[in-house]
Amino acid sequence: MRFDVVSIFPEYLAPLDLSLIGKARTDGLLELNVHDLRTYTKDRHRTVDDTPYGGGAGMVMKPEPWAQALTEIAETSPASVPERKPTLIVPSPAGEVFTQKLAYELSEEVHLVFACGRYEGIDERVLEWAGEQFTVRAVSLGDYVLNGGEVAVLAMVEAIGRLVPGVVGNPESLIEESHSDGLLEYPVYTKPSSWREREVPEVLLSGNHGKIAKFRREHQLRRTATRRPDLIDALDVSSFSKTERNI
Ligand code: ADE
Repeated sequence: MRFDVVSIFPEYLAPLDLSLIGKARTDGLLELNVHDLRTYTKDRHRTVDDTPYGGGAGMVMKPEPWAQALTEIAETSPASVPERKPTLIVPSPAGEVFTQKLAYELSEEVHLVFACGRYEGIDERVLEWAGEQFTVRAVSLGDYVLNGGEVAVLAMVEAIGRLVPGVVGNPESLIEESHSDGLLEYPVYTKPSSWREREVPEVLLSGNHGKIAKFRREHQLRRTATRRPDLIDALDVSSFSKTERNI
């Protein structure tokens, strides 16, 4: 899978050289190219922003450098066939919310391009125009405002990249984690079994796999109901047992 990221702060993306994603790049499972938007400007000052039409605070990113950058990236896209365009993700607090479901969906793509906006955002016409070559999606990390798209890209590339087959060594660890089944993950414990007068729940030491599974499922439900009742509302409870429905 290939990722391209366009930003005026390419150094912001350096953590993607590290850990699991860094290793997946070295192993050739993921390709990641970071582009400095200013290299696509034509003026002496390498200008990327200008004042907003209609007035208001802040600056808006100019369309020309974006068009140049995105055209060059699209030209080398492994997904540039009419039936499978590359996807252009524009991180924005005004986008659809990034979820594990969207991460799974995007992990099936061949080529994702991220356009990191700064200031008040990118001239809207860039997103309209880019629709000819890309499937364009504005995506938000959550209901809060960051200074730009870079931090959102770090989170999205990690969440998507780890779902690409081979990136996570033990694929079973993807099955039982939070959000994989719409619920939060159960609590986990390791040795020692007694620590500062706190005991690991006895059932986990019992070796009884049925009881352990039941304990974990109950804790998943309880934790989700307390911390994220919105997730419970979104579940289809028809497959739940009567005990589970009462949690
Ligand atoms: N850029 C600024 N805020 C953002 C957010 N919440 N999600 C994605 N990109 C952003």
